[in-house]
Amino acid sequence: MDKLAIIGGRPLYGVIPISGAKNSALKVMAAALLTDEALTLTNVPRLADVDMLLRLLEQHGVTSSFEGSTLRLHAQTIISTEAPYDLVRKMRASFNVLGPLLAREGKARVSLPGGCAIGARPVDLHLKALEAMGAKIDLDEGYVIAEAANGLHGAEIAFPFVSVGATEHAMLAATLAKGTTVLENAAREPEIADLADCLNAMGAKVSGAGHSTVTIEGVDRLHGGEHRVLPDRIETGAYVMAVAATGGELTLTGTDASLLGAAWGVLQETGLDMEERDGGICVKRNGERYKASDIVTQPFPGFPTDLQAQFMALMATADGVSKIKETIFENRFMHAPELARMGAKISVDGQTATVQGVPRLKGAPVMATDLRASMSLIIAALAAEGQTMVNRVYHLDRGFERLEEKLQTCGALIERVKE
Ligand code: UD1
Repeated sequence: MDKLAIIGGRPLYGVIPISGAKNSALKVMAAALLTDEALTLTNVPRLADVDMLLRLLEQHGVTSSFEGSTLRLHAQTIISTEAPYDLVRKMRASFNVLGPLLAREGKARVSLPGGCAIGARPVDLHLKALEAMGAKIDLDEGYVIAEAANGLHGAEIAFPFVSVGATEHAMLAATLAKGTTVLENAAREPEIADLADCLNAMGAKVSGAGHSTVTIEGVDRLHGGEHRVLPDRIETGAYVMAVAATGGELTLTGTDASLLGAAWGVLQETGLDMEERDGGICVKRNGERYKASDIVTQPFPGFPTDLQAQFMALMATADGVSKIKETIFENRFMHAPELARMGAKISVDGQTATVQGVPRLKGAPVMATDLRASMSLIIAALAAEGQTMVNRVYHLDRGFERLEEKLQTCGALIERVKE
């Protein structure tokens, strides 16, 4: 298993191009199953999660070619409507093939994604939405068996709470349903609007995406199309926090401040100098220590759960005390004990972590536990005194494109150690 060796304490200076959003790429890739024509996606990040979904799509009959960041997918004929456990369990987003397979083929057998290191993460809202559209759903031996022999129909679906995955899943399925589907209390994450843009480019009729009510008028068929995946807001936020922690000046290109939602204001409050520039963001911090700030994770436009771990790493060396409340997932503080190994003062009580900032962290061997937690350890390591060895970096390869290269060009001492 590869490790990353980081020698901290060096400020970051330079330009980092932000990649396409992993969380959007995975959903628009599933949209390729909805049509027998080719879908071309640009700005697709080369990540382990993308490769894993490609493997799943291929076994459904999708042919693909990947050149640079352009991915062409063609689902001319669906050869299997089964998504096996081995491919779905490794990545939750794989579960979103269920809706498109059901909408196009009238049936699907898809493994349940199973638990996940950051909490229980059920899929009941996904299944209720498909049932409301007329699917008959059974669970058998860890698989969801879904049938809609006469196709899906439009429905009014009010989600009891915001779910990104369920909103996307319902949108994908509703595009080919008979009649109109209205989603109430839909997620408003930028990736939802991105999926709608992609579906509309394929001939779907989705309106309201990015707002709480999304309307999908079903169409008889979708055609091929082309879509550019939006920039990764979590990668953007992570590099903003990296330079906040180390000091220096970074220009992040190909991204947009509005994607950060509430995180933009919170980061400014800590004393960071942040500015929107044409096609990017410029972030600066001089030698001064930044101020502690409190956050509560919320659905977009609130502070994203996917940046909570990185923010905790930042707060570990802030001036003052920070309270971090996680409301989306019940077990998402696994990075706290790892940060403590580096000298961070963090106490966790239920869903709230209290971080007492210290002037400096010290390098230590640490273990990456999930994707975003891994990035928090990288940020801590970049700012810490001495060497940190981050174990289990395969988590990072799932979600951060060319991480070492991007940081190295800005002056970081970071090396991959192959084992
Ligand atoms: C969530 C995050 C998303 C993040 C992703 C990966 C939110 C609202 N969602 O999306 O920003 O990029 O994780 O870390 O911040 N739930 C159910 N039943 C369901 C579906 C969800 O109870 O059928 C619960 C989840 O357990 C969770 C909450 O709803 O507590 C929100 O989950 P959801 O948005 O669906 O999760 P993801 O789509 O994975």
